[in-house]
Order: sequence, then structure tokens, then C-alpha cells
Amino acid sequence: MQVLAEAGEVVVSTEDRPLTPDELHDLIRGASAVVSMAFDRIDPAKIGPELRVVSNVAVGYDNLDVPGFAERGVVVTNTPGVLTDATADLAFGLLLAVTRRLGEGERLLRAKQPWSFHLGFMLGAGLQGKTLGIVGLGQIGQAFAKRALAFGLRIVYSGRSRVAPEIEEALGAKYLPFDELIATSDFVSLHCPLTPATRHLINADVLRAMKPSAYLVNTTRGPVVDEPALADALLAGEIAGAALDVFEKEPEVEPRLLELDNVVVMPHLGSATVETRTEMALLAARNVVSVLAGTGPITEVRP
Ligand code: GLV
Ligand code: GLV
Repeated sequence: MQVLAEAGEVVVSTEDRPLTPDELHDLIRGASAVVSMAFDRIDPAKIGPELRVVSNVAVGYDNLDVPGFAERGVVVTNTPGVLTDATADLAFGLLLAVTRRLGEGERLLRAKQPWSFHLGFMLGAGLQGKTLGIVGLGQIGQAFAKRALAFGLRIVYSGRSRVAPEIEEALGAKYLPFDELIATSDFVSLHCPLTPATRHLINADVLRAMKPSAYLVNTTRGPVVDEPALADALLAGEIAGAALDVFEKEPEVEPRLLELDNVVVMPHLGSATVETRTEMALLAARNVVSVLAGTGPITEVRP
């Protein structure tokens, strides 16, 4: 807020919830800059000629019609880099939580259920020596792979293209076609952006092709996974479990997922640390100031 205030008058939504499209367009009418959240959908056809920059406080920008803004000469910016480690940390936490049944164990104790230590009690799946499939080896995917290396996982990845040989070598990461990654991985973690090509990338057929012992982790965007198909697959025992930080229709969660003990759910907390959210906010504000001052965006999303 302090950084933005240097650039001009700041108007803040007084609602502690996402605005409806009409409320949002009313609020931003006449603005030179908009600071948007990942759930804000702004229609380029409804903006005024004053608007010069939309600064999304997120690395993902599937909520924004980037080509539509470009046509109107509006710059779009996001917040890459500053949230890489926090998101990779949460993804790894989710992998541990679902394989070692952390949520389930907690619920057992909080429900004051009787229990005792024995050799077969609440066994989970170990990580060491298993194969981790990373879908999308970008910045967050690579940060996740670094953590996975320390836990003794073997790394395979798929994506639009191969990463540089030095990166493959440093991570011991092997490129596989998507279908092969799906069929051979013990854990599949999603780190691709949401695009038309990745919407429902994880569908019923893909889930059926996974190992019955495999786990799915999603910290990118909900619609990359067909959520009802995921519930079907879990109920049918086609995969062993899933850990999800994001959902198709946030804040709603497919109700059947909430009934399953082999599902871990989090309310979109990937970047939610004090340090990271502070850096995201600062970067978003600096993008606004820099565009309005005519010095150009710091982290522009190019159409
Ligand atoms: C949050 O979901 C982000 O894209 O940064
Ligand atoms: C378990 O508590 C052990 O000591 O192995």
C-alpha cells in the first residue's frame, strides 16, 4: 500500500471476498492500474482507456486475457520467482502428508479414538528409491525436484519441452513422454500452468493409467485435474491417494473428496508465508509504479 500510494490515489475493495464481475468492473472504472488476485477476472472489453497495467499478485495468470489486454495496450504483470520456494515447500509437505497419513493420524487423535503402537499401525508409503514424476519442470517444478533429490527420489519429468541439459544433470532428471511418466511414476506432482492445453490434463483415462499404488499432488491450478474423475478414481482404487492445494471451483471442493481418508486438502496455501506474500505484494506494487512512471514493467507477462 505504501509503494502504491507513491504512484497516486489507491482505492481498495472493502469486501473481504472476491468481487462479482460487475462489482469488479465498477470498482476499477477510470483506474490507471489494477492490482488483481488470481481469482479476479477482468474483461478487456469493459475497461476504460485510462488503464495501463494489470498487476496480478500471483505467478499464474490464467484469470487474465493477456492477448486481449495487449490489443488495448495494457501491460499485464505477475509475480514469478518470489513464490517458488514456498510453493515447492508446500507441495513437498503435501507429498509427505498424503504418503505418511498426517491428516488422518491427526484426525484420529483429535477424535479421541483409542490407538496403540504396533507394527502394522497406519502404514504409509516410503519415498526412498521411488520414482517421482514432475509434470512441468519450470521454476517451481525444479525447486520441488531439489527437495525430492534430498529425499532419495528418482526424478522423471514431462512438459512442453525439455529443460537445459545442465538442469537435467543437476537434478538427475529424465525426460519422459507424458503417457510414460504417468504409467511409471509412484508419485505425480503437477507444476504446469493452467492453459487450454493443460485443462483436464489429468482425466479419467490418465488416472486409470497411473499405478494403483501411485499418489497425485496438485499445487498448480484446480482445472488441470478433472476433479469428479479424480474422486471416481480414488473410490475405485485406481490410485492410492491425492493431495490437493487447489480445486476446480474454488472455494468449493468436490464433496466426495472430503469423505476420503487418503485425500489431503489445503485451502490454496502454496505461497502463503509471511515472507513470500510480502515479496509478492511488493513486486506487484513495484510493477504498477514502474509502468505508470514510464520505466516499464519488472515482470511482464508477454502475450
Ligand atoms: C497462486 O496461486 C499463484 O499463482 O501465485
Ligand atoms: C519407533 O518409535 C522406534 O523407536 O523405532
